[in-house]
Amino acid sequence: MSNTIVVTGAAGFIGSHLCGLLLEKGSSVIGIDNFITGSKSNLEELEANKNFSFVGADICNLGKIDADVSQIYNLASPASPIDYQQLPLETLDAGSAGVKNMLELAREKNAVFLQASTSEIYGDPLEHPQRESYFGNVNPIGERSCYNEAKRFAEALVMAYNRKHKMQTRIARIFNTHGPRMRANDGRVIPNFITQALAGKPITVYGKGEQTRSFCYVSDLIAGLYALINSSYSFPVNIGNPTEVTILQLAEKIKSLTDSNSEIVFKPLPKDDPIRRKPDISLARKELRWEPKVDWEEGLKKTIEWFKGNC
Ligand SMILES: NC(=O)c1ccc[n+]([C@@H]2O[C@H](COP(=O)([O-])OP(=O)(O)OC[C@H]3O[C@@H](n4cnc5c(N)ncnc54)[C@H](O)[C@@H]3O)[C@@H](O)[C@H]2O)c1
Repeated sequence: MSNTIVVTGAAGFIGSHLCGLLLEKGSSVIGIDNFITGSKSNLEELEANKNFSFVGADICNLGKIDADVSQIYNLASPASPIDYQQLPLETLDAGSAGVKNMLELAREKNAVFLQASTSEIYGDPLEHPQRESYFGNVNPIGERSCYNEAKRFAEALVMAYNRKHKMQTRIARIFNTHGPRMRANDGRVIPNFITQALAGKPITVYGKGEQTRSFCYVSDLIAGLYALINSSYSFPVNIGNPTEVTILQLAEKIKSLTDSNSEIVFKPLPKDDPIRRKPDISLARKELRWEPKVDWEEGLKKTIEWFKGNC
C-alpha cells in the first residue's frame, strides 16, 4: 500500500506541524495550500525533506494528483475569527466545494479521509462539557456562521460520502489549539495576550473574562489527528484539552509567565462569543487511546518562547 499522505492547509499553523509529524513517521507527504491565510515560511523546514512535495492550489479548484495516496487530511480553511470574517465566501467555498473535491480525490484514490472540523459546530453550547452527541446551538446567520455552518455542512458531506460510497472517513472536532507558527495578528486569544504582554501593552479581555476556553498544545492535537485517521472510528471525535480556564485566568497566567507589567483591561464582548467551551474527550480516550500530555502552563511557556523570537 502507498505510504503517501496528502495534507491540505499544509502552510498553515496546524497543517505544517502535522506534515512534520508524518515525515518523522516515515511517510511521503504532499502538502496543498493556496496561502490565503498560511505562509511560505511555515513550509521552510518541510521543504528541506526529500519526502515532502508541495502543490500551490485552491482545494476548490485542484488539478490532478498523480501519486497513489493512502490518506488525506483536509485542513484547508480560514480558521481564526478575523480571517473567516474577512473571507466569508472563501470560507464557505472551502467548507463545501473544497471538501467535496477532496472527498472525490479520496474516493478516486481509495484513501482514508479526515476532515478537520471544529468545536465551533457546537456554537454557544447549552450542554457542558460538550460531547459528540450534542447537536449544538448555532446562529445560522450570525457573523461566525460562515465558518460554523461551513464546518457543519462539511460534516454532513463527509457522512454522506461515508454512507453512500462506503468510504473510510474521519471527523476531528478540534478545540482551541496553540503553539509555534500561530500568527501574532490572527485575532485568537493566546497570540493576542502574549503579544500584548511581551510589548507591555494593555491585555484586552472581552466582557468580564468569565467566559471559559480549553487550550490544547499543538503536539497533542496532531497526535490526536494521527490516532484518529489510523483508527477505524468514522463518527466525530472531540480532540482538545479538557482543562477549562476563564479568559481572565488566562490573561493573568500569561502576564505572570512573561513577567509583564501590562495592565489587564476590559472591552465589550463580541457577538455570538461562546460563554463556555470544554471538550468531553471520553470518546477519544476510549476509541483512540489518546489524551493530551502537555499541561496548560507547560504549553503556554512553549508558545511564549516562540513568540519571543518571532513577533
Ligand atoms: N487552530 C485551532 O485552534 C483550530 C480549532 C478548530 C479547528 N481548526 C481547523 O483546523 C484547520 C487548520 O487551522 P489552522 O489553525 O492551522 O489555520 P491556518 O489559517 O493557520 O491554516 C489553514 C490553511 O489552509 C489554507 N487554505 C485555506 N483555504 C484554502 C483553500 N481553499 N485551498 C487551499 N488552502 C487553503 C490557508 O492558506 C492556511 O495555510 C482548519 O480547518 C480549522 O478550521 C483549528
